[in-house]
Amino acid sequence: MTGTTEPTEPTEPTGAAGDPGDTELSQPARSAGSVGPAELSADAEPSDVVHGPRRPGVPALEARGLVKHFPIHSGIGRTLLVHAVENISIALPAGTVTAVVGESGSGKSTLARLLTGLIKPTAGEVLLDGVPVGTGAKARRKYTSSVHLVLQDPFSSLNSVHTVRYHLERPLKLHSKLGRAERAQRMRELLERVSLTPAENYLDKYPHELSGGQRQRVAIARGLAVEPRVLLADEPVSMLDVSIRLGVLNLLDDLRSGENLATMYVTHDIASARYLADCIVVMYAGQVVESGPATQITDSPTHPYTQLLLSAAPDPARAETPVLGGRGAPPSLINPPPGCRFHPRCPFAMRVCATTTPAPRPVGEDHVSACWLHASGLTEDQREPLVATAEAVPVPVSAAAAGDLPDDGSQA
Ligand SMILES: Nc1ncnc2c1ncn2[C@@H]1O[C@H](COP(=O)(O)OP(=O)(O)OP(=O)(O)O)[C@@H](O)[C@H]1O
Ligand code: SF4
Ligand SMILES: [Mg+2]
Repeated sequence: MTGTTEPTEPTEPTGAAGDPGDTELSQPARSAGSVGPAELSADAEPSDVVHGPRRPGVPALEARGLVKHFPIHSGIGRTLLVHAVENISIALPAGTVTAVVGESGSGKSTLARLLTGLIKPTAGEVLLDGVPVGTGAKARRKYTSSVHLVLQDPFSSLNSVHTVRYHLERPLKLHSKLGRAERAQRMRELLERVSLTPAENYLDKYPHELSGGQRQRVAIARGLAVEPRVLLADEPVSMLDVSIRLGVLNLLDDLRSGENLATMYVTHDIASARYLADCIVVMYAGQVVESGPATQITDSPTHPYTQLLLSAAPDPARAETPVLGGRGAPPSLINPPPGCRFHPRCPFAMRVCATTTPAPRPVGEDHVSACWLHASGLTEDQREPLVATAEAVPVPVSAAAAGDLPDDGSQA
């Protein structure tokens, strides 16, 4: 899992660029795990850091060195590449929730789609229970029944001309040998598992006759029908009414322990990630910039981008929504900035940040951060502050936040 170095004495923060006073950010403290000059020459070295919660044994699902570059046509006969996911390794152990957070376009859904096998990676591999996923029909069938994707919009994931009964019975027919009576019993159990009770009230309903939260519960029940090992939930509550989000998040929480599921929860909303997840993985422009235990990431973020995300999370105690400190918008992934992709927006950017990609470095227990602020041994020249180049454009953030959630477990 994460490679760690012996902790060394913390070093004084140096090299902040610009005046951080013009943002909500304060310079992250240098970590005790700073590494020395030997690493500084490496530019975008493939990293062997595996993100995700640390648990003994083989993770249910693991991705190694995933890369996805989408080819697109420029209109003048040239093919350009969208660098959507760059060299990400992530492990999802059974009985854990890993949240993947980041702004729009950071590559969260692409990562989830790569893990489902819906799209092929440009490079890298996916392992189920430690075994590389095969390409044959049998291997694919086993994989599809083990890894289930829950989508943002439960309306689009259910067929409006079919009843709940149809949606639940179909996977049971395809993936189990249950007889008719056993299937009927199993459908009742599935609806009860997602708190749609009494089950008889729901079986013959059509999607449009259900609320958003109930539809999402049916979509989850349908996934559970094939007894998956892994649940990939891509913004599963962002289209639901604020009042029913907590109920669905609590259901995911319950499935982690009850069904021992390995869950990846994709969200814009770092506050709900803290509520639900064991581990938070922060993505920026196709790369992981920080990962670690959820409470550490939210209480002591070490990467300036994580700080920015947290400063923008709606806070009931704050009268106005901040505009990410006026720190610009995410970059184009067709021609991403060299060095640290965050450097045009970073209030602490140094000369080295514009030229050399920082590798993830240990900054605490099971906590890594890809930022030059956590490297020791930079020269004066490398630490030279950069003038910020980002336009002061507000960046949209999700309205969803723990502060928006009711504190009861209300369901739709
Ligand atoms: N099929 C595709 N062809 C070309 N580019 C794509 C394709 N799918 C995604 N992208 C691009 O890849 C990048 C990452 O997209 P992705 O949907 O993974 O982001 P995201 O973090 O899920 O964003 P959001 O929060 O808005 O859902 C974006 O620049 C997007 O335009
Ligand atoms: S490495 Fe990136 S995030 Fe860290 S100080 Fe440099 S620009 Fe900022
Ligand atoms: Mg997405």
